[in-house]
Amino acid sequence: MIKGVILAGGQGTRLRPFTHLINKHLLPVYDKPLIYYPLLAMRNAGIKEILLTSNKEDLPNFKKLLGSGSEFNLRITYAAQNGPKGIAHALALAEKFANGAKIAVMLGDNIFTNHEQIKSGVAAFAKDGGARLFLKEVPDPERFGIAEVHQARITSIIEKPKSPLSNLAVTGLYLYDSDVFAIVKTLKPSERGELEITDVNNYYVKNGLARYDIVKGDWIDAGTFDSLVHASMLMLKKNREFPVDIT
Ligand code: G1P
Repeated sequence: MIKGVILAGGQGTRLRPFTHLINKHLLPVYDKPLIYYPLLAMRNAGIKEILLTSNKEDLPNFKKLLGSGSEFNLRITYAAQNGPKGIAHALALAEKFANGAKIAVMLGDNIFTNHEQIKSGVAAFAKDGGARLFLKEVPDPERFGIAEVHQARITSIIEKPKSPLSNLAVTGLYLYDSDVFAIVKTLKPSERGELEITDVNNYYVKNGLARYDIVKGDWIDAGTFDSLVHASMLMLKKNREFPVDIT
């Protein structure tokens, strides 16, 4: 059974001054805290067990809000990340939790509206090894990890390219086999001093093991004021079709 990992750490520098006071993932998107959206996406994709990682000082707030996860019909446990050392560094905290199982990793600021597609991707991945990534065409590829593809495989990913070779962003939802933890251990910090998720993904890419789906619904990385407002507007509009009922 695939397990879920939601990464909700980081400094949220692009959302200051609010993030001096509150973790980015607890900020509102229309009528819910941002963190509800990745939780609901995982839950609706059929994942039952979630590990949520965040900064040590922020974890009490997440626990207060989400508790054991029973309100969402999930089992949620927590792990503290020691310093802002990158997405792949936070992922390493999940090794014991995964206990040899495949994992679905989601960035806590990512909103997907097509949960059925995620469910199908997870089901397809149950039969594969390697990695399965979710790509979305974007108008501003300089902001993201950008993939090149050939037939069913990803052939390269470049993090925040100055001259993008495609407009296919690698969204913050990654399905990995249990090799991912050994891969993280081989990584070296990037120029910004972090262990980069793109380096993990490129390991799978280089070994011909990275498959992909193109996201059919909406996708928002809500890490900036513009995208946070956009997310709120979208949820205001979609409130009826989006699962408002969290249980
Ligand atoms: C991170 C990843 C990037 C990915 C994006 C998706 O960027 O490094 O590859 O495209 O998430 O949300 P960040 O939002 O941390 O700048």
